[in-house]
Amino acid sequence: IIYPILATLAAYLLGSLSFAVIVSRVMGLSDPRTFGSKNPGATNVLRSGSKKAAVITLLLDGLKGWLPVALVGWYGKRYGLEEGTQALVGLAAFLGHLYPVFFRFQGGKGVATALGVLFGVHWLLGLATVLTWLIIAVFFRYSSLASLVSAVFAPVFYLLVSGVAWYSDTRITLAICVMSLLLFYRHRENIARLLAGKESRLGGGKKSA
Ligand code: G3P
Repeated sequence: IIYPILATLAAYLLGSLSFAVIVSRVMGLSDPRTFGSKNPGATNVLRSGSKKAAVITLLLDGLKGWLPVALVGWYGKRYGLEEGTQALVGLAAFLGHLYPVFFRFQGGKGVATALGVLFGVHWLLGLATVLTWLIIAVFFRYSSLASLVSAVFAPVFYLLVSGVAWYSDTRITLAICVMSLLLFYRHRENIARLLAGKESRLGGGKKSA
């Protein structure tokens, strides 16, 4: 029982590293919590004008979701950890990103971290979801809409991929559904803006929300 708890705690702490804030600070850019959507995430870092900072943020926020899930997948058996712990550490990293202990519990919306978690569960699942995101983003040019559509498809992809590749696990299915629901909840302002036709498009710059 102690190993799953330790792993979950470590994943939460890792998830709590808000890389949008850290990367912007290191690269001398303004704090993403002060402009645009005020969200500490890769999309909003992009609004600062630095594509490089946005890509680094995306990768690091993704990595912190991927790493704990992949590590439990690779080495978990030695410590008696299996899919239940994978589901827990994935969820913990995601929750760390949303409610980071190091940043007064004010985190991001979880898109990059959720993607990382999905890649950790199975690369095909991550790939299918990221492709969904890209297709919507290219056609509609709304990062938020792409994230919301991907969140709807992710649980479906998991069931499809796990049916084909190996088997589905109820705890992982549940973790993915919880992530998708929370992702919607965190995008409630984006949803209102999308419905009002006021959401900022990708490449729109710093001023727009
Ligand atoms: O990654 C979050 C994205 O879906 C929306 O971000 O900054 O436009 O609220 P933002």
